[in-house]
Amino acid sequence: MADGATVSTALDLAAIRAQFPILSRTVNGRPLVYLDNAASAQKPRAVIDALVATMEGGYANVHRGLHTLSNEATEAYEAARETVARFLNAPSPDTIVWTKGGTEAINLVANGLGLSIQPGDEILVSEMEHHSNIVPWHMLREGHGAVLKWIPILDDGTLDMAAYVDLLGPRTRIVAVTHMSNVLGTINPVAEITRLAHAAGARVLIDGCQGAVHAAPDVQAIGCDWYVLTGHKLFGPTGIGALYGTAAALDSLPPYQGGGEMIETVSRDAVTYAKPPHRFEAGTPPVLEAIGLGAALDWLSGFDPAAVQDHEAALYARAMERLHGVNGVRILGQAEGKGAILTFAVDGAHAHDVAQIMDRYGVAVRAGLHCAEPLAKRMGVASSTRASFALYNTLEEADAFADALIRAREFLL
Ligand code: ALA
Repeated sequence: MADGATVSTALDLAAIRAQFPILSRTVNGRPLVYLDNAASAQKPRAVIDALVATMEGGYANVHRGLHTLSNEATEAYEAARETVARFLNAPSPDTIVWTKGGTEAINLVANGLGLSIQPGDEILVSEMEHHSNIVPWHMLREGHGAVLKWIPILDDGTLDMAAYVDLLGPRTRIVAVTHMSNVLGTINPVAEITRLAHAAGARVLIDGCQGAVHAAPDVQAIGCDWYVLTGHKLFGPTGIGALYGTAAALDSLPPYQGGGEMIETVSRDAVTYAKPPHRFEAGTPPVLEAIGLGAALDWLSGFDPAAVQDHEAALYARAMERLHGVNGVRILGQAEGKGAILTFAVDGAHAHDVAQIMDRYGVAVRAGLHCAEPLAKRMGVASSTRASFALYNTLEEADAFADALIRAREFLL
């Protein structure tokens, strides 16, 4: 890549990339081409600086002290909650629960619902779910006799909406579906999915771990009961995520963990709990991580989402154009309007070998099952390799990706 400054859209790529110190490093003697953004995104200076500034100048535990530092940290921490609410267009910061990530957010909901699940109650998940939106529901099947039903997908990677409608029934308690597939890039019609589920009397959880990054989430427009995001894919720190829930949906859940700060009163014989969101936030919370996520979302909100989407679509289109006519490379997921995730299987080659050879050219991609084993079975692949683009990637990097893949394929044939 010459200077990483190619502009395919209104974004100033050189200025954006300059904010990510890691993007200027080399890997195996080549410029880093980081295309594993769906696994975890890199961090801009704004996030790094927010973490350092808090640790150097404003750190203390929150909600506990009467001293200045604690008050400052509490203000920054709660301001970050407001930022998440704004980012999701949630009606109030009280609808945002901090979690350690998307996985914990889904487990929090599943665990709470478990207490009221009756044997035979049905949970609908789709064939394109990440394990984090499958296994917590399997645990309700194992522990409470819930029945898991699978919304099928069509060959292009879209949800089979007709089959979904048929699966909804009087026993459906919850529909748990991803906003955007971490493997196929499909962006699901989550507002329509929610409307249909509500009409059937079911509640809806949307896994927004990818969708929050690429699909301009608006929880009020979607109308879902719960929406989940994770910080590290949103250019923020690891160890922080958020669960949005409507006031009614959060109120309906019992506490997830017990401890300090989630109670109203504790006596020898009884305990009363705080209202949401604090009811779900036992113990010292991830103060720094929350502040870091707030900084990441403030930073991301500085870009026009349509410009980001256009740029990512241009990156995907460029990579696909370069792969056109390359034999033996099967693309998984070709849904209309999909996000910039390019997952592929190479005939006769193991995905791990492909990824390792690409790494020699400095290109970082993910390989394996992508924590979505039922989807791999549905698509008929033992494993696959995935390039996932972010707003800081360039057209030259899309070219470098295609060149590295073509070389890997030649080497492995
Ligand atoms: N969910 C992350 C991925 O898809 C880890 O890679």
